[in-house]
Amino acid sequence: MATTRTQVGIIGAGPAGLLLAQILDKAGISSVVLERRDRAYVEGRIRAGVLEQGTVDLLDQAGVGARCAREGMVHKGIYISIENDRRQIDLEELTGGKHVVVYGQTEVTKDLIAARIAAGGDLRFDCDAVTIHDIESQHPRLTYVAGDESHEVICDFIAGCDGFHGVSRQAIPASLQRVYERVYPFGWLGILAEAPPVADELIYARHSRGFALYSMRSTKIVRHYIQCLPDTDLEDWPDERVWDELRLRLPREDQHLLKTGRVFEKSVTPMRSFVSEPMRFGRLFLAGDAGHIVPPTGAKGLNLAASDVHYLSRAFIAFYQDNASAQLDAYSDKALARIWKAQRFSWWMTSMLHNFGPGDDFDSRVRGAELAYTLSSRAAMTALAENYVGLPF
Ligand code: APR
Ligand code: PHB
Repeated sequence: MATTRTQVGIIGAGPAGLLLAQILDKAGISSVVLERRDRAYVEGRIRAGVLEQGTVDLLDQAGVGARCAREGMVHKGIYISIENDRRQIDLEELTGGKHVVVYGQTEVTKDLIAARIAAGGDLRFDCDAVTIHDIESQHPRLTYVAGDESHEVICDFIAGCDGFHGVSRQAIPASLQRVYERVYPFGWLGILAEAPPVADELIYARHSRGFALYSMRSTKIVRHYIQCLPDTDLEDWPDERVWDELRLRLPREDQHLLKTGRVFEKSVTPMRSFVSEPMRFGRLFLAGDAGHIVPPTGAKGLNLAASDVHYLSRAFIAFYQDNASAQLDAYSDKALARIWKAQRFSWWMTSMLHNFGPGDDFDSRVRGAELAYTLSSRAAMTALAENYVGLPF
């Protein structure tokens, strides 16, 4: 068995694990990142693409913000459409100058991997059967198998950054864990296509046929979504049908602007809200999707991973630099306070914008009225805008 010693053992090379490793490295704290998949798989995974300013700042501080600053698109507003009628939410005006940056999570992941490798970081792909041991002791361990060899990493702490399907959350005894969950009766069918964006800002459309979102990755690549059933078979959705449906749900004034193009990715994302509490057990700390999932409507998934990593990295730095463990003790409560606000926002946006199907007439009218009210009241629009651009860390 090959043994390595490190300060923080990190499971998962998604944005949470990679960003944590990068920030710790800047503070002189060693880590080993263990990732189950190979590098190409991790770098090819398609995810959302809206960064809050706080996330952009954190990437900058971690020394990985240069390409995002060059290629990211600053968005000062969003459009919300109700039955083909488009309204604007001026994020910048409503929040006193704040905006978001549209830059794919896939690109964030590539930038982080490149930075870890350039810094000589210990980042290991293709790690099978990662297992957590002794989390209640002073020296927890991780074991895994790579090729034919067994490996062991002895750490001071373990950061579980292994996403919703990872092993970290399962290492917390069920009797101490409380799970909160809502599964929505729909998903999003998303496409990536070679086409110009429909409008200058993202369009979130509520429509009786179902929700649609018109997003982008660049001036030449679009990312569009339509609400669908969670068990949708992509065979039933040839490209033409997706484009037709996208056109029908667009604001009237934008319908002639929808340009089609080669679709090079098509997939269905299920929608759920999920929180597992607490986010710490012994010397194991959860961050990102390992501890919580939001539906993508508010674009909060990556941003929450970033705020978790901000709190957790500060707590590790306080521990190693000042021998102070108060921030580690406070981590779970502190992270959860922000997570629940983002959960509320993501649930609220999801409920106002989607069609929940038949048998839901009263609630559907109330949700419609809530969206109409939000768009008619400066106070309500301000609340939407300040959550969309991101609450402070
Ligand atoms: N062992 C090692 N690695 C694992 C294991 C395991 N048992 N299980 C999962 N992983 C890896 C996954 O392959 C993935 O690369 O952990 C990583 C988790 O990354 P993400 O799922 O991207 O989660 P996170 O880093 O928390 O980022 C949150 O990702 O899912 C989106 O919407 C979410 O934008 C948010 C962001
Ligand atoms: C995306 O571009 O993938 C995207 C944008 C905004 C969202 C969700 C996803 O709310």
